[in-house]
Amino acid sequence: MCGIVGYIGFRSVSDLLLEGLHRLEYRGYDSAGIAVLADESIVVRKRAGRVSELAALVQTQPVEGTIGIGHTRWATHGGTTDENSHPHVGGNGEVVIVHNGVIENYDSLREQLTALGYVFHSQTDTEVVAHLLAHSYIEQLKLVENSDTHAAALKAVEATLTRLKGTYGICALFRDATDTIIAARSGSPLVIGVGRDEYFVASDASPLVGYTQEVVYLADSEIAVLRRDNMSITHRTSGSVQPSIQTLEQVSSDIELGDFPHYMLKEIYEQPKTIENALRGRLDDEEGTAVIGGLNLTPQQLRSIDRVVLTACGTSWHAGLVGEYLLEEFARLPTEVEYASELRYRNPPITERTLVFAITQSGETADTLAAMRECRRKGHPTLAICNVVGSTIAREADGGIYLHAGPEIGVASTKAFTSQVTVLTLLALYLGRMRHLSYPAGKRICRELRQMPEKIEEALKCHDSVKEIAEKYAGFDNYLYLGRLYNFPVALEGALKLKEISYIHAEGYPAAEMKHGPIALVDERTPSVFVVPRCGIQPKVISNMEEVKARKGPVIAIACEGDREVERIADDVIYVPEVAEYLQPLVCAIPLQLLSYHVALLRGCNVDRPRNLAKSVTVE
Ligand code: F6R
Repeated sequence: MCGIVGYIGFRSVSDLLLEGLHRLEYRGYDSAGIAVLADESIVVRKRAGRVSELAALVQTQPVEGTIGIGHTRWATHGGTTDENSHPHVGGNGEVVIVHNGVIENYDSLREQLTALGYVFHSQTDTEVVAHLLAHSYIEQLKLVENSDTHAAALKAVEATLTRLKGTYGICALFRDATDTIIAARSGSPLVIGVGRDEYFVASDASPLVGYTQEVVYLADSEIAVLRRDNMSITHRTSGSVQPSIQTLEQVSSDIELGDFPHYMLKEIYEQPKTIENALRGRLDDEEGTAVIGGLNLTPQQLRSIDRVVLTACGTSWHAGLVGEYLLEEFARLPTEVEYASELRYRNPPITERTLVFAITQSGETADTLAAMRECRRKGHPTLAICNVVGSTIAREADGGIYLHAGPEIGVASTKAFTSQVTVLTLLALYLGRMRHLSYPAGKRICRELRQMPEKIEEALKCHDSVKEIAEKYAGFDNYLYLGRLYNFPVALEGALKLKEISYIHAEGYPAAEMKHGPIALVDERTPSVFVVPRCGIQPKVISNMEEVKARKGPVIAIACEGDREVERIADDVIYVPEVAEYLQPLVCAIPLQLLSYHVALLRGCNVDRPRNLAKSVTVE
């Protein structure tokens, strides 16, 4: 969702901000803008549309300076217009801000400010904050010693924040406090990059990569004051904070496309490597178990667990469903998978023997964070399976497991899904070996897991045939995705991938459920994608395929090489390597990712930046 970037130092700030905004594009946005402090005045350039359009505007109307802030906006309050784009100026130009999040009490604040004579130029909640800041700044200037503009600016921020209800990550520039950026957060992430005589601030680390490796993750209720040569952080209630500087592990190549036309394709092809990374150092072949440090629970505590709750959104929720099957099969632990958006408002029975895991690529999804906080508030240890190091969920969780998949930039999640499933398999193995899972079974699982990077490499060989099949089917407007047991979540994930990047209606279902409703949709214009590799229940799924064929529905099957039975019925078959049933989600996800990619391309869609979607959903 919205992205923030800010800089104070010695570099030409407009170029740097535009580059930062380009790097934040993957988060999803519809307009962009920058504000630069130039010759003691604030200059704003902003417009609805792509960052490239903003860059063209800045080229025709350049703005020089070395302090500035920038923003990519994903509309919440007010349509996609130039006026609603950030930055927003407050008062008579005393302050300019960019903001991520949602101010819930903006309506009443807007009324109060209008009564005081403030004029609004946009429909956004952010402009309310800008005017409040300006108003407060003018008040504070009268109160502080020697009309100290820096002191007044900080006090204005502190006073304004007390009046806001909702979530925010804010960066502000004050026209008269010329060498300062003030940043504050509550609910929306901000990371500060520490350089030599320069500081960066951004909503995630991508704009910082290549400039600095030293970062400070701002926590909720903290306010950072950045000057060229120093930084100070205060907590709104507990005062001064000693910044904890961490090392950023990302390198430039992680966020570059290389030879790939899209991030999605790059990330699909990274999966042999990302799965290897998820497994690295975590398999104990001798003992036939997994090695999972970082859960911060003793073996005794882990053995006393009698239930697992996995909570997540979207693709991560689908990975959770695979996790449920794995944990119940290997560890015999009753497992529930909860939509985080539901869990946060429900009151399910969770006891001290329940292990709660939040599953999230970004570590910033608002609902997942809220669900995790709600569980923690009730006193339950809550762990995370997360990709982004330093993200809010990773930092707030009581422990957890990192995916080590590297940055996922394509909005449609691909490599994070397979890494999440890999990590959940390790978790099930680990907890299983503490319970009922036998030594030989543990050894076999270790062996099978080790083969996965190679199997994924093999699965990627279906690419050409998927491309041909996509050409045949790209014109259809409704799809069914069907699978059973471990392949039911894969069917859900395949349908989601198609929906989100090609805007085609697709439904995922357990194959046998089809007869209870969705079969009514089957006709010559509704292809069914069956995920039907060899498994114990395959004959049943094959019967479901027959049922679709009998109703003239086109059938695309994901199946194992040489499966004559499937070939006989399906119109088109995409082959995946044979693996154990519990590992089939990993190989079967690959052709479905590629299918959605090619169908989207053929329909002229922007696969990396699908409409209306955001990479990290930081609002409720
Ligand atoms: C789909 C997709 C989303 C995310 C969901 C959760 O391709 O990317 O459905 O999976 O928004 O995001 P994270 O995993 O970052 O919490």
